[in-house]
Amino acid sequence: MALVLKNEEMGAGMFLMVTDQGGGAQPGQFYMVRSWDKYPLLSRPVSIFHQDEETTSFLYRVVGEGTELLSRCKPGDPVDLQGPYGTGFPMVTGKRIAMVGGGIGTAPLYWTAQALKELDGDNEVTLYLGFDEENQATDLFKNLDADLHVQIGGYVTDGLESEEYDLVYTCGPEIMMKKVYEFYRETCKDVYVSMEKRMACGVGACLGCTCETKDGNKRTCKEGPVFPGRSVFY
Ligand code: FES
Repeated sequence: MALVLKNEEMGAGMFLMVTDQGGGAQPGQFYMVRSWDKYPLLSRPVSIFHQDEETTSFLYRVVGEGTELLSRCKPGDPVDLQGPYGTGFPMVTGKRIAMVGGGIGTAPLYWTAQALKELDGDNEVTLYLGFDEENQATDLFKNLDADLHVQIGGYVTDGLESEEYDLVYTCGPEIMMKKVYEFYRETCKDVYVSMEKRMACGVGACLGCTCETKDGNKRTCKEGPVFPGRSVFY
């Protein structure tokens, strides 16, 4: 059982929770999280905002009963983290990478961008982030060694630049990711999308999170949440 170190409202309905359990995850993976006993029955899948050896942080939005309960956690409260689960974003070297995130879909891009820079100083990272309203999460992204474009209101896809990126990573509403895929599919080698589905078990057993792909049905919690865009938007 982990302990909550911090759980702060960041604006735009988002909270940042820092816990005292760290290590073992890859950027783009998630944990099944719960801070309650019996009800709601299911834990909530929450993507990792950041992890080091001592801590794991989650940027999440309150969307229902489970996340509402998470938002009420105080420092010192226990929280159950099952995971890390899933397949995250590819870690590469010597590449120009664009990342496009919408709303709470920006969450997994923070650590992914940081890890890519730490892995190889030659990786160039450009972040395009879109939020409905001003918020403090945006300030966290300003600390990254990346070219940062933030759009408040409107569509983040309206601000994309047609640079020649090697790879594009995106997370957010499916319609946004489809637009990102269509915008870059001709000019970059691969677009990777992080899918969001309702999850029950989180470990590939219940098939409740199946996603239709060009290569057959895949489990978002196991083969995903990150998939090649050409496999999902075919
Ligand atoms: Fe059960 Fe993915 S949530 S298989």
